[in-house]
Amino acid sequence: MSIKSQSELDGIKAAGEAVAQTLRQMRAYAAVGMSTQELDEYGYRLLRSYGANPAPKKDYNFPGWTCISLNHEVCHGIPSASRILREGDLVNIDVSAEVDGFYGDNGGSFILGQDIRQLTPLVRASQEILRAAIPRISDRVKIADVGGFIEREAQKRGYSVIRNLCGHGIGRRLHEAPSEIPCFHDHFNTRRFRKNSVVALETFISTNANFVYEMDDGWTMQTDDESYVAQHEHTLVITEGEPIIVTAANGIF
Ligand code: CO
Ligand code: CO
Repeated sequence: MSIKSQSELDGIKAAGEAVAQTLRQMRAYAAVGMSTQELDEYGYRLLRSYGANPAPKKDYNFPGWTCISLNHEVCHGIPSASRILREGDLVNIDVSAEVDGFYGDNGGSFILGQDIRQLTPLVRASQEILRAAIPRISDRVKIADVGGFIEREAQKRGYSVIRNLCGHGIGRRLHEAPSEIPCFHDHFNTRRFRKNSVVALETFISTNANFVYEMDDGWTMQTDDESYVAQHEHTLVITEGEPIIVTAANGIF
């Protein structure tokens, strides 16, 4: 959406705050031995306490309140009573929700407990590349140039990017135009970021893979070569200067 009034900006900020606080608290609550369903239900109670409705369920009838993906799962992991968090798991929590008609979306990968798989550099790369990409976005900057920056930064660290998962416009629905804000320099994408528009910027940094594939459950996305992927995501309002990060309260920065 393109923000046209202070009340719309306030609405986007409230939605961003709700998902960011929920993600921050879910990350702190996650513990070895806990099921992803228990973590998801904790997230649901938090979202409701902020007056927020989980967007995956509302917009897509996803079978969960938040997306929780473990290890080789990349995104859209379904919370389950039989998925138990283990020491050293690469965990991705993605929280998106609607508050009074406005949407916020944010996510982040982290390692639970001891880093058995030695994935700290991957997680750090995803987090740092997102942080470095955000200030490069302002009115009229090409979407492809920001994608190119993310890809180059990943390659400098010996990583690849996932080409079929993208950031996106957001605001009055979870996914709006521009439908694709890729993590690579897409020559066919000639669109530019525009002042007052709301976007979710996402990194998908991989140890090797370039693509993800849907699993038999119809939701979970996974690589086909056992690569690991780390993702971080913030919802932004584009300005003539640096973007406003409405999900900054998630504590990942
Ligand atoms: Co998300
Ligand atoms: Co998103």
